[in-house]
Amino acid sequence: MERTLAIIKPDIVATNRVGAILERIEESGLRPVAMRMLKLDRRQAEGFYDVHREQPFFRSLVEFMTSGPVVVSVLEGDDAIARYRKLMGATDPEKADPGTLHKLFGTNVERNAIHGSDAPETARREIAYFFGELDLVQR
Ligand code: RTP
Ligand code: MG
Repeated sequence: MERTLAIIKPDIVATNRVGAILERIEESGLRPVAMRMLKLDRRQAEGFYDVHREQPFFRSLVEFMTSGPVVVSVLEGDDAIARYRKLMGATDPEKADPGTLHKLFGTNVERNAIHGSDAPETARREIAYFFGELDLVQR
């Protein structure tokens, strides 16, 4: 059993498609075990994307991620990290396979609808960034 952190980004909350994304996540067999909505402030978004601090897109990414509320959740399942990355598809919707969440719901490489942890170490860090152990339910 593995856990991954998912973020439904501000573009999706703003266009009322949170339910559509969650439906596809649940249909895939991944189980949410924690969930909450929050509006990231600049410091929180910069901290979350700390590894991208030197990237040319960092400022713009932080602007986007603080532009409105997001829904953060912890998804659980066998091989959850890889399964969720596969469900999302490539970061850039233009390069993502048909049927993937980035392809279906993303606008461009930045406004790409959702985030998912990319490895066990990052999943641990990202889950702890938003949730404490007591926030995670048993299902
Ligand atoms: P994420 O961390 O959000 O799941 O996405 P990822 O691993 O597929 O992509 P990553 O390279 O970690 O980039 C993080 C987020 O930054 C935005 N981005 N913009 N303008 C650009 O070229 C660019 N590249 C990446 C996206 O919102 C991406 O999800
Ligand atoms: Mg990433």
